[in-house]
Amino acid sequence: MGGVLYQVYIRSFADSNGDGIGDLPGIAAHLDYLTELGVDTLWLSPVHPSPNVDWGYDVADYRAVHPDYGMLDDLDTLIAAAGARSIDVWLDLVPNHTSDRHPWFGDRPEYYVWSEGIPNDWTSIFTGKTAWQYDQTRRQYYLHQFAPEQPDLDWWNASVRNEFDDILRFWFNRGVQGFRIDVAHGLIKDRRLRDGVRYMRERPEVHEIYRRWQEIAGEYIPKPTLMGETYVTLDKLFAYYAHLDLAQNFPFLRAEFDVDELRPIVETTMSRLSKGREPVWFGSNHDHSRMATRWAGGDERKHKAALFLLLTLPGYAILYQGDELGLEDGHVPADRILDLADPPRDPERTPFPWTRSGEEWRNPWLPAADTSRNAADSTILPYTRELIAQRKELGGGYRTLDSAPGIWAYARGDKTCVLNMTGTTARHDGHVLEPWQGVVL
Ligand code: NOJ
Ligand code: CA
Repeated sequence: MGGVLYQVYIRSFADSNGDGIGDLPGIAAHLDYLTELGVDTLWLSPVHPSPNVDWGYDVADYRAVHPDYGMLDDLDTLIAAAGARSIDVWLDLVPNHTSDRHPWFGDRPEYYVWSEGIPNDWTSIFTGKTAWQYDQTRRQYYLHQFAPEQPDLDWWNASVRNEFDDILRFWFNRGVQGFRIDVAHGLIKDRRLRDGVRYMRERPEVHEIYRRWQEIAGEYIPKPTLMGETYVTLDKLFAYYAHLDLAQNFPFLRAEFDVDELRPIVETTMSRLSKGREPVWFGSNHDHSRMATRWAGGDERKHKAALFLLLTLPGYAILYQGDELGLEDGHVPADRILDLADPPRDPERTPFPWTRSGEEWRNPWLPAADTSRNAADSTILPYTRELIAQRKELGGGYRTLDSAPGIWAYARGDKTCVLNMTGTTARHDGHVLEPWQGVVL
């Protein structure tokens, strides 16, 4: 079990028609690249029509494809072409909120969370101010954990649950093999809307929703996978495995690239996961500074060490597009910033460099990433490919082995992984390790 997931940020992956926006045919055109890399699954960032207040995370229609990315047919074609190469396609499902332009917001106001006045102290993640927005037509306040243009759905409403049952089936019927679930810890709110963030997110009633989704997934063979964007502390993570197949490990992503920070996270995760459950490790995504910048500070050897770790730990590893090349955060001048968040997330969303000349991007929607690390002549890419190929030789489980400070050694079945997480030459068990070098013995 386990596998390598590749997160495609569609808008910035590959542009097939020269309009400066990555699209679905662009992904289909690069399946050779993804096959050679050895990934098992593509997780596509939101594909649906959206006013793009939050770049796709404000969905206006859950059953269609954004015209910037192509048509429903293009998605069907991509799923089939990927499937022919044994690559699964997962979509990003955004069930916590919709766009305020979703027809439901006008036609089915009862699908959302309303209050006569501002009922509590909940604040919006994006504005930092009250999470309640006054609506002129209804003369009430609605809840938005994110932007005011992203009203939260009311998951106590049985019709909302039924709608999403249908949405799940719609995509499973088209061959989608899984979902990454946006804000998986946040869907359901305290019924009484009590004060305190603990009443806005991480409610235990959320698990019932996933139990029901597992039942739906169970109607399909092979059963599609449900992976939560579980943005919670480590002690809270394991509860989500009650009904999700996978729960993303954010404490790992947020840690410093330091053995004394990362190892305890891995040890706790491995000891607390029930038998048969798999962890999910990643160092980048579209919301966080990339690992090549944040962890490696641009240092190629250090980035390779981070890749070694991700790709030799048990379970699932997610590569965010460009991680395989050591792609760093892009430089986006202030007048080109498009994201609403503060700090803006544009630097980790810049267009993927396929070549050194960067000519594959004409007037891209965000300034193209630095092309000095690109898919055509990367020195890191062959290393990533090797690591992925080598994963299959590693045995199951994880066991920390004794090692000197700064060295991380662990058993994977009858193989031993040793990683020098320092900038100086070190020794382990008679083997010399160059700075930041990882070896499988
Ligand atoms: C998490 C997504 O990854 C992020 O990009 C988005 O802004 C929020 N959820 C709200 O949907
Ligand atoms: Ca395009």
